[in-house]
Amino acid sequence: MKKILITTPIYYVNDKPHWGHAYTTVAADVLARFFSLQGNDVFFLTGTDEHGLKVAESAERLNKTPKELCDENSEAYKFTWKNLGIEYNHFIRTTDKIHEERVIEFLKTLKDKGAVYEKEYEGMYCVECEKFLTEKDLIDGKCPDHKTEPKKVSERNYFFKLKNYLKEVEKKILSAELLIQPEAAKKEVLGLLKQELEDFSISRQKEKVRWGIDLPFGKSQTIYVWVDALLNYYTGNGTKEFAEYWEKGEVVHLLGKDILKFHAIFWPAMLLAASKKIPKREFIHGFFTIDGQKMSKTLGNVIDPNEVVGKFGVDGARYLLLSQFPFGQDGDVKKEKFAEKYNADLANGLGNLVARVLALANKHNIKSDKPDKETKKKAEEVRDTYRQWMENFKLFETLEEVWRFIGWCDKYIEENKPWQVTDEDKLEQILSNLLYCVSEISDLIAPLLPQTSKKVKNQLRTGKPEILFPRINK
Ligand code: MSP
Repeated sequence: MKKILITTPIYYVNDKPHWGHAYTTVAADVLARFFSLQGNDVFFLTGTDEHGLKVAESAERLNKTPKELCDENSEAYKFTWKNLGIEYNHFIRTTDKIHEERVIEFLKTLKDKGAVYEKEYEGMYCVECEKFLTEKDLIDGKCPDHKTEPKKVSERNYFFKLKNYLKEVEKKILSAELLIQPEAAKKEVLGLLKQELEDFSISRQKEKVRWGIDLPFGKSQTIYVWVDALLNYYTGNGTKEFAEYWEKGEVVHLLGKDILKFHAIFWPAMLLAASKKIPKREFIHGFFTIDGQKMSKTLGNVIDPNEVVGKFGVDGARYLLLSQFPFGQDGDVKKEKFAEKYNADLANGLGNLVARVLALANKHNIKSDKPDKETKKKAEEVRDTYRQWMENFKLFETLEEVWRFIGWCDKYIEENKPWQVTDEDKLEQILSNLLYCVSEISDLIAPLLPQTSKKVKNQLRTGKPEILFPRINK
């Protein structure tokens, strides 16, 4: 049994959660459930990133105080996660007092260790990214991601001596002490480490960025929002028990590729500078576009996860999130195809198989689920492959494996035609095999589609078939 801490990025509260945020969180939930079902002691942490200019400016536009906006939208995140069947152990808000205290403590440590210095600085700040951009980053003078002009900033700030720790970070990645996955993400990080990375500022002048944690040293400065945000992983719920996941366990971060540099370079460097343990594994997933385009309010193509749950149910939404394209790659989501996919794989595939097997077992009054040798062997093979995919965070492939097994069961029914079998022993064995397979499937889907798994188990116990996934017309 291992202690494992699984985290999602903490989400900005300038807006409500969308399909992209749901993607990371559902994936983390699936992995947390899987590792926990395997007998590990898992802590699943998620939450909201509440300080900084981006949130403050959004609040101002909406005529709200930053705190009001944070309260409102952190609730929207909690509500959405509940709707998607997410079972986290703790939801951290960076405005929590305990977190603010921990951040201050950590910054004092950095200062004491000599990892911080003061310097006059001039740069261009993209509020949407919450980071400084260099001339090289810009396209036509604009941020390539947000198509907005960064703000010129000239002020005296505190800096973190990033450069002093880069060699060590690189060593940890090369030796796999810090696993960056998939391989393409690792390559990207190693490439970044070959470039001249600059020390980064860890504070801003309070008169410019008021909505932040006060820097414990230095006058009238607030702590840079990314430093504050990354430290959420270290604060957790602030208990001794939580600290043990860092000290004795494996820390696993899930994140999108947009924030790779912060997680794979800045974060371990900060931890090394403070003589703390670094995470074990960072898994970077891709980004999706919606019908070929970036999700954006202006384009009006933002998918609200709650709407999808309303239409397709919790597990329908979870399935639609994970079955689009391999986790770790980029892909395009076709909203128009949701109903088709749901009907084919859930209503017809899984739902139909369970209903068919239960109806046959009922008709012939079969309760036994003892498999014959061949069926048992098949199920074991599926379980092995499934476990390997899961352990490598290949959620798309895991689903594929389960659905191949569903297809195998359908074929088994077609080939053995239980409705034509007159030999009673033979019929009993066929149906026992099928009941065994359905029970196996209910275990396999437990982390992925937890509600459905429970329903199937219940139906196997009572023998009463109930529709799992009603068909949906567009
Ligand atoms: N607050 C920072 C993270 C701080 S972590 C210490 C942040 N927040 S965010 O609200 O912008 O959410 C970022 C995360 O949401 C991405 O890293 C990614 O995991 C997820 N996604 C946002 N849009 C997405 C897509 N279009 N596709 C897939 N995932 C997406 O950055």
